[in-house]
Amino acid sequence: MPQANRIQIGILTVSDRASKGSYQDISGKEIISLLKKYLAVDWLPVYKIIPDNLGQIKSTLKRMADKEKCCLIITTGGTGPALRDITPEVTAQVCSKILPGFGEAMRIVSLKSVPTAILSRQTAGIRNQTLIINLPGNPKAIKQCLTAVLPAVPDCIDLIGGPYLKYRSGTLRTLHLHR
Ligand code: MTE
Repeated sequence: MPQANRIQIGILTVSDRASKGSYQDISGKEIISLLKKYLAVDWLPVYKIIPDNLGQIKSTLKRMADKEKCCLIITTGGTGPALRDITPEVTAQVCSKILPGFGEAMRIVSLKSVPTAILSRQTAGIRNQTLIINLPGNPKAIKQCLTAVLPAVPDCIDLIGGPYLKYRSGTLRTLHLHR
């Protein structure tokens, strides 16, 4: 249940193997630890690990957005070309607007060091007052992809009526749109 006046951020790891406990979820934990380092506001992580299952991804994204009132949901995993990779499709299904720039920015940055970054179909979108962003599953991708897009996140959430996410000074450059 959402806590009154507390900013909640969803971290959703989508992985058959991590959800079975076959390996540790390093990527989801890395997202939480980077957000703790960057964010200057008081916030609460809503963290879940689920398999690459359409129904479970859909219902978890909806619950984090609609019931737990997360202003931001960051997913990791299931963005590639493998048969069971469906995170971007399900993200698109639950969103009313797609923000292709997020995926483009992450791929541009990642391609400078990893040729296989082209294989990630990662995207982002808006569901009511929630911004959903996909990251690849590889732990090495997390910091690179997050730092590529986080500067635009506070203004995006502000534009959809959410809370303003301030970063600690010196950690991330922010954009501050003038409206
Ligand atoms: N992006 C970065 N920055 N670093 C990476 O190691 N791995 C790529 C790509 N994007 C990678 C990356 C690979 S090999 C794949 S298959 C796709 O992300 C999809 O990964 P996923 O299905 O685990 O989300």
